[in-house]
Amino acid sequence: MSNVPHGLAMERDAGPFDPPSEISRLRDARPVSPLVFPDGHEGWLVTGYEEVRQMMADTRFSSRLDLDVIHVPYETGMPTPTEPSPQLPGMFIAMDPPDHGRLRRKLTGAFTVKRMKTLEDHIVEIVEKQLDHLARLTPPIDLVKEFALPVPSLVICELLGVPYADRDSFQANSAQFMVRDQPLETKMGAYVALNTYLTELVTNKRAEPGDDILSDLARHEDLTVEELTGAAFLLLLAGHETTANMLSLGTFALLEHPEQAAELRANPDLLPGAVEELLRYLSVADIFFRYATEDLELGGETIPKGSTVVVSLLAANHDPRRFENPDTLDVHRNARGLLSFGHGVHQCLGQQLARIEMRAGFEALLRRFPTLELAVPAGEVKLRTDMNIYGVHELPVTWSATGGN
Ligand code: HEM
Repeated sequence: MSNVPHGLAMERDAGPFDPPSEISRLRDARPVSPLVFPDGHEGWLVTGYEEVRQMMADTRFSSRLDLDVIHVPYETGMPTPTEPSPQLPGMFIAMDPPDHGRLRRKLTGAFTVKRMKTLEDHIVEIVEKQLDHLARLTPPIDLVKEFALPVPSLVICELLGVPYADRDSFQANSAQFMVRDQPLETKMGAYVALNTYLTELVTNKRAEPGDDILSDLARHEDLTVEELTGAAFLLLLAGHETTANMLSLGTFALLEHPEQAAELRANPDLLPGAVEELLRYLSVADIFFRYATEDLELGGETIPKGSTVVVSLLAANHDPRRFENPDTLDVHRNARGLLSFGHGVHQCLGQQLARIEMRAGFEALLRRFPTLELAVPAGEVKLRTDMNIYGVHELPVTWSATGGN
């Protein structure tokens, strides 16, 4: 039996972009394996591609695991509850059907491929403006602070109708919320602060709706203010943390594969495929929790009712039974079937938006900063092994004065 929960936060010993070697070893030996949480509670870890896909498609593996379950046992060694905890209103990522669908259905229209396509030009504009800002700075600069975080924040703020001017406070709070080894009080403090801020925001939108997604949601009178707040919390957090980390870690990966970056620069038609491959290769949103509501068969194992089940999307996306040479970045690869946005009823609502932001972001960054390079040795880049979403804390980059932008 493995003690991998510690390991899920473990060093990336196989390199900054690959799964930790212990996880790859486990996947290849036993893609559904028992594991022991720090408190001694027994659970399961699912790392194989087919097994992860099958599990995420099966809602008998409940998503009703909220704050206290996901964060507490894992980091502090407190007991892992074996019952679903009370649902946080509006947080449909942690709900099962039919409650989940009641909320998600009210948002799907706002995130369709067609709707997102109409936003593309505007997103390109936001990216170009942010790069104008970058071009005015004197390198070296931190790409996370100056580009990778502002772009998705600006986009999601505008879509949701959250004032971008308030970003310092909500970004600081959401960052606190994402740190794994953090006292529960700190996490709860950040949660309460964000919740208070968003409650006021959605209350105002309900009274005076504007032209944005949260206002549209507030028009649904069957939703309570608590539900609106929870949904806003989820969208705001999911909408900028993940994409920001994909942009920064993706840039790091491209700078480490300069021949592939050069190909993309020369042939931007390769970008949509490259974005899919970066999503697969990096899998920044890696760890998700489920809970077995009955005895369930998976990958030849019987998972007893009441078990906490952990999936690693990174391990699944690097499963050699599904992707050839999985630990190699190959922008020509067909990464169809990647699990980076999950699978099943909870599959990422914002995936089209994220794709557009990444295509626009990488295309413009490569085009306007052809001499972009790391300003520190690759080994000194601070990796987010301490956070729930993987990435880099900072990405110091530089470019030559004649680099043209
Ligand atoms: C759900 C990944 C960007 C909103 C998910 C899930 C994954 C994921 C893996 C499934 C969670 C589960 O099954 O428990 C990512 C990645 C992104 C990204 C890798 C960027 C590259 C976004 C953006 C939004 C967003 C831009 C904007 C609104 C959501 C929401 C859910 C979700 C609301 C919950 C869906 C549900 O439970 O029905 N995301 N996401 N995500 N994501 Fe994303």
